[in-house]
Amino acid sequence: MTARTQTGARAGTQANALAAGQDAIALLTADHREVKDMFEQFDELGDRAKASKEKLKEKICKALIAHTTIEEEIFYPAMRAKGEDAEDMVDEAVVEHASAKDLIKQLQEMQPDDDLYDAKVKVLGEQIDHHVQEEEKEMFPKAKKSGLDLMALGQEMALRKQELMSTL
Ligand SMILES: [Fe+2]
Ligand SMILES: [Fe+2]
Repeated sequence: MTARTQTGARAGTQANALAAGQDAIALLTADHREVKDMFEQFDELGDRAKASKEKLKEKICKALIAHTTIEEEIFYPAMRAKGEDAEDMVDEAVVEHASAKDLIKQLQEMQPDDDLYDAKVKVLGEQIDHHVQEEEKEMFPKAKKSGLDLMALGQEMALRKQELMSTL
């Protein structure tokens, strides 16, 4: 057992209750929907809604950092073990994450009045949308067929996500 898993396991019964019942695909798909909703909300905000934009941008960045981290730490390595095809898919996903993380980092240091603020949120949303399509149409179906213990992976990711959300 890794140090990370031990810490996760200590996160407590509350987290266990939270983790109960959601498999890896359900958890990741729910995250995808949540972040898509937030991007849509952002898009609907007017130019003068600076405080709301900033709040939402922070929430989006935090959710995406937690999501990409649990995928990279837990889900992707499990997928990688499922053959060359899966490995190529994961490689592509990791490159897409890196590009998203770069934009996230820039956005975290920006304010709504800065040049390109709206454009960067928009492009990040588009990149995530593309990435999510590939995960949901290619990687998740493959994961379902692969014989992975999706329930156990879901629990592990739920615990890790909770831990990350409390520190981000
Ligand atoms: Fe994802
Ligand atoms: Fe991803």
